[in-house]
Amino acid sequence: MSLTKVICFANNKGGSGKSTTCANVGYEMSRAGKKVLLVDGDMQLNLTLSYFDEEKALAFVQSEKTIYAAITKQKDLTDFIIPTAYEGLDLIPSSTLMSSIEFELFPKMQRELILKKCLSRIVASGRYDYILIDSPPTLGCWVMNIMCASDELIIPVEASPWGLFGLANMFDFVQQIQSIAPQIRLLGIAITKADERKKYFKQTLESLASYDELTVFKTIIRIDSSIEWSQDNSCPVGAYKRSSRSAEEYMNLAKEIMEYVSR
Ligand SMILES: Nc1ncnc2c1ncn2[C@@H]1O[C@H](COP(=O)(O)OP(=O)(O)OP(=O)(O)O)[C@@H](O)[C@H]1O
Ligand SMILES: [Mg+2]
Repeated sequence: MSLTKVICFANNKGGSGKSTTCANVGYEMSRAGKKVLLVDGDMQLNLTLSYFDEEKALAFVQSEKTIYAAITKQKDLTDFIIPTAYEGLDLIPSSTLMSSIEFELFPKMQRELILKKCLSRIVASGRYDYILIDSPPTLGCWVMNIMCASDELIIPVEASPWGLFGLANMFDFVQQIQSIAPQIRLLGIAITKADERKKYFKQTLESLASYDELTVFKTIIRIDSSIEWSQDNSCPVGAYKRSSRSAEEYMNLAKEIMEYVSR
């Protein structure tokens, strides 16, 4: 049996920190000696751009070395893996063409299981400890694919007035997915972009505490301009500025996630 754990980051609320969290947790896991594969599932290419500049990201699109090409042609994803500049950390890039993925999936048989099949050889090979998948801010057939291929789901939530809006829909969606993919577990909520001085921060924590049996990771990711600087430089914050608060927070969040996954 493969020991690879597939973890997806999803929230239909846009801008909640999915891509930032996926990129930085992946980096910190690789720093901890784990083998990690990042899979960019969003047409915005934000995960790809976290590791490669725009020119390289567009070159991947042009050479059809992307998740879009693999999914639409139902190919094994092994051939789409690109090494990043960091040891033990690889990436499968996304494509701007992912904007039409819902239409592409529609006529296909077992359309919600295509990603799982395309990933199956990589998972079975056991060459990675973790595969982290970044999702777009939608709840359609493609996100169903992402969840059906995953063992664990992490929902990044922004500590802001609208941060929790739509979370109930997200929970319903996951419950429906579990009827066809019972392996997926909601691992926890990761609070991102927090400013402890603002009343929304406290409100977010209180509202989340009102949900029964919901895990909220202890590590909170606070607002930090180092994140944006690192993204501007196409690198994870821990590589951009090791001494930053965010680097430490993402290191702690990655540790927590690895601990929870093994439970
Ligand atoms: N801790 C942080 N401090 C400051 N800015 C942050 C932080 N985390 C994320 N951001 C910024 O917030 C924005 C949204 O983050 P991100 O792209 O990770 O969210 P997302 O959920 O992936 O968005 P989308 O739904 O569009 O995919 C980005 O511009 C990012 O630079
Ligand atoms: Mg994103």
